[in-house]
Amino acid sequence: MAETIDFNDRMLSLGLARVSEAAALACADLIGRGDEKAADQAAVNAMREQLNLLNIKGTVVIGEGERDEAPMLFIGEQVGRRDGPAVDIALDPLEGTTLTAKAMPNALTIIAMAPRGTLLHAPDVYMDKLAIGPGFPDDAVSLEMSPRERVEALADAKGCKPSQITVCVLERPRHQEIIDDIRGTGAAVFLITDGDVAAVMHCAESRLTGIDMYMGLGGAPEGVLAAGALKCMGGQMWGRLTFRNDDERTRAANAGITDLDRIYARDDMVTDQVIIAATGVTDGSVVAGVKRRPGYVETETMLMRSRTGSLRRMTYRSRLE
Ligand code: FBP
Repeated sequence: MAETIDFNDRMLSLGLARVSEAAALACADLIGRGDEKAADQAAVNAMREQLNLLNIKGTVVIGEGERDEAPMLFIGEQVGRRDGPAVDIALDPLEGTTLTAKAMPNALTIIAMAPRGTLLHAPDVYMDKLAIGPGFPDDAVSLEMSPRERVEALADAKGCKPSQITVCVLERPRHQEIIDDIRGTGAAVFLITDGDVAAVMHCAESRLTGIDMYMGLGGAPEGVLAAGALKCMGGQMWGRLTFRNDDERTRAANAGITDLDRIYARDDMVTDQVIIAATGVTDGSVVAGVKRRPGYVETETMLMRSRTGSLRRMTYRSRLE
């Protein structure tokens, strides 16, 4: 309880914006250069350096992987100056490594901070995800429905025809049945090659993006970040971990998960207040990418707090030496 009171999200959020900005700036020169690893590494290094300047006792709960597979920002890594509130950190220094390497839209850097023990420790497995924007009745759609039923239920709730619904899905062979089922209702499918955190965020701004719903299997860690973003922006989300083998089940058990079939609603993944900073790397529909201007580089960051539902868009100029 004391830790929650200590969690001064108002003050901490500006520091968090610096962290995601630094990661985006660090990979700016690697956009379109065909090197996913170099871009990711640059973002990781910059994020870690800035994170360690914050007055927090941070623990990375969603990071670059487990300690033996990630030299930096691994799960369990302690970050910050160790003199502030105890917080959970979930991060993806570069969400959309391939998008960045190929200069395709919607790559971003993202970091979430929440009171200690309040973010789901999602293992590195797939999560079956479903998200819609704000303004619909609770549980207007559900993971238990078929894709067709979800489209029909959302159209009902929106007061429109299924053919006026657009669903975003990751373009993967594993999603072909889902895609066919959605198209069978007359709805449109907006296919993306990568980046399902941004895709879920698109649902919260459907008037701007034209995306009504997101569904399909993507990374579970990205699912927690997306749930945090929707908690700030508004919208509903559900996720269920999916396992391909025993190794993945063991990963879940090691992360403390006992009910492997559980459906997590948004607030089961992010159980308390959360602050999120997301900076565009390449241009996207919800946040602009890094821009090189004569003499400086510019970034756009979305800084969000779930407690107030506030969303700041901050542009930052960094002088080119
Ligand atoms: P990376 O930036 O780590 O490459 O992740 C991109 C991403 O598209 C995520 O947004 C998504 O959750 C996941 O990969 C999907 O995984 P897969 O490529 O195995 O379908």
